[in-house]
Amino acid sequence: MRSLLPALLPAVLLLPLVAHGDDASLARCGAAKVEAMARGCSDVLAAQARLDANGNTAGYERRLEKIRARVASAWAEAEADANDTRCAAYASNPGGAVDFLATMTSRVMSEVPRASCRPKLARLLRRHCRQGVQTEATALVAPADAAAARARAVQTLRDRLSRKWPRRGCTGVPTADEAADLALGLAGTAAGHATTRGMREIAGPGGPFVGAAIEPHEVTADPAYLPALQREVGSLTAENVMKWGSVHPGPTTWNFGPADEVVVLADETGMRIRGHTLIWGSLQIPPYVRNATTATELRGYMADHIAGLVGRYAERIAQWDVVNEPLSSILDPATPDGLDDNVFRQLIGPGYIAEAFHLARAADPTAKLYLNENSILLPGPRQDRFYQLVVDLIAAGAPIDGVGFQAHVGLAPPAQYPSQGTIEASLRRFTDLGLEVELTEIDVTVLFRPADTATSFALQGQDYRALAGGCLAVAGCTGLTTWGMSDQYTWIRSFFGFHDFPLHFDDFWNRKPAYFGMRGAFLARLLADA
Ligand code: XIL
Repeated sequence: MRSLLPALLPAVLLLPLVAHGDDASLARCGAAKVEAMARGCSDVLAAQARLDANGNTAGYERRLEKIRARVASAWAEAEADANDTRCAAYASNPGGAVDFLATMTSRVMSEVPRASCRPKLARLLRRHCRQGVQTEATALVAPADAAAARARAVQTLRDRLSRKWPRRGCTGVPTADEAADLALGLAGTAAGHATTRGMREIAGPGGPFVGAAIEPHEVTADPAYLPALQREVGSLTAENVMKWGSVHPGPTTWNFGPADEVVVLADETGMRIRGHTLIWGSLQIPPYVRNATTATELRGYMADHIAGLVGRYAERIAQWDVVNEPLSSILDPATPDGLDDNVFRQLIGPGYIAEAFHLARAADPTAKLYLNENSILLPGPRQDRFYQLVVDLIAAGAPIDGVGFQAHVGLAPPAQYPSQGTIEASLRRFTDLGLEVELTEIDVTVLFRPADTATSFALQGQDYRALAGGCLAVAGCTGLTTWGMSDQYTWIRSFFGFHDFPLHFDDFWNRKPAYFGMRGAFLARLLADA
């Protein structure tokens, strides 16, 4: 291992030269911030090892405070040296970065059942965390040069752990390989705090897409919005303006203006579009549809609506949520068959769902057709009912390509937060049917979390990481979309009236632990692919 250090350090020192072409001062700042995070990662593990050995939480808090201060002053120094306002604009929350690392570390340790093994693992991981950050930072700016160094680092860590871990009497959980993965996860997270690269670039062309739902008027009104989208996002969803009530308010009245704005924005910035949504029985449907009285009348409206909307954007909108929320609302008592008791189901019967898919296929044979639903990430009767619906649709020959998991997490008490393993298993249940899956409406409320704000945000970061990591781990998961970008515009505030903070950017466009958690999952993939 020792021999690797000299091999890596020159690469890190090269950062200023290669990172941003002629933008040397900004790149120097980036390299300095990476270096400070690398040290921080190692220091946090050392603090954790002491805590596990002596149980002295007050001492641990004091150590963390010192680490926060050290990282903060190193970053401030980097910013002063760079004398460039952009340097302060990224990797701008050193305290949050350290706290996030601390939370991640204690979670890693909580997975080690034998108390005496915890400090041993922390010591074993220390150097690797530090080197992982540096390797990762190098990989981000010069992927080709760094690939070999990265592969060596991963291998060395695995070898070392498989030699030392059993020798210390700590075989079992985690295995050497699992421990190596944990260390790499930490390193990815730490590097994620220090790198300047946005998620769109880190995700790369191979997917999955990182998406966001937007209201076009908010993007127009807020000068910070478009740069954030361009940097982070490769897929757009209209939060409201493609819904029936907005785009087609009267039988012969169309309001395409705002929907067109989304499509033009996506075209100009090279983004994919998810169309949301054609048939949604419960909300945002116009009165003439809600008050229809016969199946024939309603079928006529459906056919016009789908042909008109999907047809207009044929071959430009990559996928449609053909039917949204077909199951009974979680707020209402379930109907006997578990399906939402809306006007489509009442007049046409449950077959309205398959009919909508056929209409959409006819209007644009190139679009992927999705069934989108809330509260199905956790296993249980609701997920089972949804699964049965999908199986029935396939058996009936409905042209369904994918399943959208909304992923509004922690929305109501008792709030539940699915682990990455649960998310993977839920997604796989549907990819095993030969379908694509996407996480289509991610947000994670913090209001119902019994924790102080800083802890809530750190935990929210883990949840975002689990969501992104879950999607990345499943071959058929083609995208993950957050339901908005900045907390200031979240629907949770306007729709429910809760002053919550469910997104990955705060009210002032600062990146939150949620952002770093999500990006950390992509960084970890880069490392694991080495
Ligand atoms: C929400 C929008 O975000 C709000 O602005 C609007 O008032 C109501 O709808 N599930 C969905 C989305 O499928 O369409 C919803 O969007 C959020 C829940």
